[in-house]
Amino acid sequence: MKYYLFLLGLLLSFTGYTKTVYIDELDTQFLLQDWGVPVVNKSIMQTPLQVAGKEYRRGIGTHSISRFLLNVEGKSQSISGWVGADDRNDFTCNMEFKILADKREIWSSGVMHKGMSAKKFHLSLKGVQKIALIVAEAGDGIMYDHADWLEVKIETSGNVTPEPVVPENIAKEKYVLTPQPGLMPKINSPKVFGVRPGNPFIYTVAATGERPVKFTAYQLPDGLTINEETGLITGSLKEKGSYYIVTRADNQHGGDSRIVRIEVGDKISLTPPMGWNSWNCWGLSVDEKKVKDAADVMNTFLINHGWTYINIDDGWEAEKRDENGELQGNAKFPDFKRLSDYIHSKGLKFGIYSSPGPTTCGGYLASYQYEKIDAKTWAKWGVDYLKHDYCSYSQFTPSPTEDLIKAPYTLMREALDEADRDMVYCVGYGAPNVWNWAKEAGGNLWRTTRDITDEWNVVSAIGFFQDVCAEATAPGCYNDPDMLVVGKLGLGWGEKVHDSYLTPDEQYSHVSLWCILSAPLLIGCDMSNMDDFTLNLLTNDEVLAVNQDPAVMPAHKIITENGQIWWKMLEDGSYAAGFFNADPYFILWDQSSGKEIQQKNYQMMLDVKKLGITGKFEVRDLWRQSDLGEFEGSFSTEVPYHGVRFVKITPKKI
Ligand code: GAL
Repeated sequence: MKYYLFLLGLLLSFTGYTKTVYIDELDTQFLLQDWGVPVVNKSIMQTPLQVAGKEYRRGIGTHSISRFLLNVEGKSQSISGWVGADDRNDFTCNMEFKILADKREIWSSGVMHKGMSAKKFHLSLKGVQKIALIVAEAGDGIMYDHADWLEVKIETSGNVTPEPVVPENIAKEKYVLTPQPGLMPKINSPKVFGVRPGNPFIYTVAATGERPVKFTAYQLPDGLTINEETGLITGSLKEKGSYYIVTRADNQHGGDSRIVRIEVGDKISLTPPMGWNSWNCWGLSVDEKKVKDAADVMNTFLINHGWTYINIDDGWEAEKRDENGELQGNAKFPDFKRLSDYIHSKGLKFGIYSSPGPTTCGGYLASYQYEKIDAKTWAKWGVDYLKHDYCSYSQFTPSPTEDLIKAPYTLMREALDEADRDMVYCVGYGAPNVWNWAKEAGGNLWRTTRDITDEWNVVSAIGFFQDVCAEATAPGCYNDPDMLVVGKLGLGWGEKVHDSYLTPDEQYSHVSLWCILSAPLLIGCDMSNMDDFTLNLLTNDEVLAVNQDPAVMPAHKIITENGQIWWKMLEDGSYAAGFFNADPYFILWDQSSGKEIQQKNYQMMLDVKKLGITGKFEVRDLWRQSDLGEFEGSFSTEVPYHGVRFVKITPKKI
């Protein structure tokens, strides 16, 4: 039988027989994309495939970054079809289609966006073994890149077999890099703190070191006092202006001090918020006990490293307002004042969640037309942080423009300003260009992405495109690439609680990148169930100091061989630099090399002239907290697969 089939094949190839294979007939489970799932014969939004008003019968609706690797066995003649940005999209975002044949780019569409006519291609595949169909990001991040492969067909006398584009993760042991903190106190709290005149002042001097530690503060302006046991400074300051205080922590082994600049004025959250959010772990099942447990863990292990906020996400709201029009907690949250007092008694701060629309994303009651009342209610409850998530407001903006979306956020800002309490304000609108207007709407941070998940392709697609908005970073103004997907996660996404699917190296990369980006650090895991690895990942003071650097300088990206180098300037004239082995278009051309690729270390080199450094410089490994020596001209290092080498570079003074 086999023999006859072979003869038939031979005959057909001599006679030039070919068949047509449409890519939408293939198994799309091998098509990897960074948002949603591929849809056959429809757009990513499940609508008919349509580009610039023209409908297409068949194809695949996908979303950048998208990769589809096909084995065409050297038996294909050609590939042809159209590509375009689908019409069903609220925004006009940029993307680029590429076709690679045996690692070589053979076609690119150039930058495309909604409204442009589909582009046609017809390419020879003579002798080609494998092709990769790619939709790349094109300079404005990956959001809303609704991309269509239209009527794409391959003429072949062989088979077309889709293959996985990335290797399966090989199990790698979790390894701890963070050295244990010493017995002597070391202060880790922010070097700058902003408060509005007259509003409650809450700042905890965070320090590691053996307990008991005695906390003191010198030059405290009138109106502030420090609790010597906990380091909590409270009170209020009436006059606008800058004040410098000296905080100290002492124990039997010695002491540490830190000068803190207090800015009394219009700006708060002068370094990125660090805390916990209930969503990724608990979703709508969050309740008072889970929140108190999180506060207990933060107070025991994390507070000494500067972690501060305990934020309840969606799922706390009662169905109805009370007779005064005030929001109330549902049965899971019987008494918010009690809960917030509990959180504050631990030296921590308390965050809450709402929406500018009538309901939240989870369908609970929200703040539409009750902004002023809600801001006052939250102030009364002792809320220190608000995540304001867009969702149902979209019913008022069927054709959204920046001004229309901005309006309800500005309204809530005004309401928060009238409340006599400082509340960090998160504009929860994950959409393109939010960074262009969220600052004007009074946001301290704004979601630059849709929801993160604990998959490397999602974390890297979100993180490594934050350069498009990096310039918006400033003290009190942060791009928010969403929460940290480390530790035990799941229920929030309707899944079983599970250990983060990121490998240990990927988790080191994730935390390092978020620190360079000056991103808010919000732990999304079940904190009462954290293993040693996760705890160490979240308590490296030299790493966290990069996130909390008071200069809050924008991050920069350099694409280089084997990955990307991200860097930012620090207040003391040094630089933080992360060498990441990250290639968003990574394609596993040869299946057998998957293991080898993951076990390899990758050489990366930084020419420090790119940072403006001309003379000698010192390098310190931040995760290991150890000096690597003195260098000149460039610095080279080895980086594990999907991992990072995170360093501080300090130019030598001449
Ligand atoms: C989503 C938001 C999530 C979470 C959820 C709550 O829109 O991105 O982070 O807040 O709503 O319903």
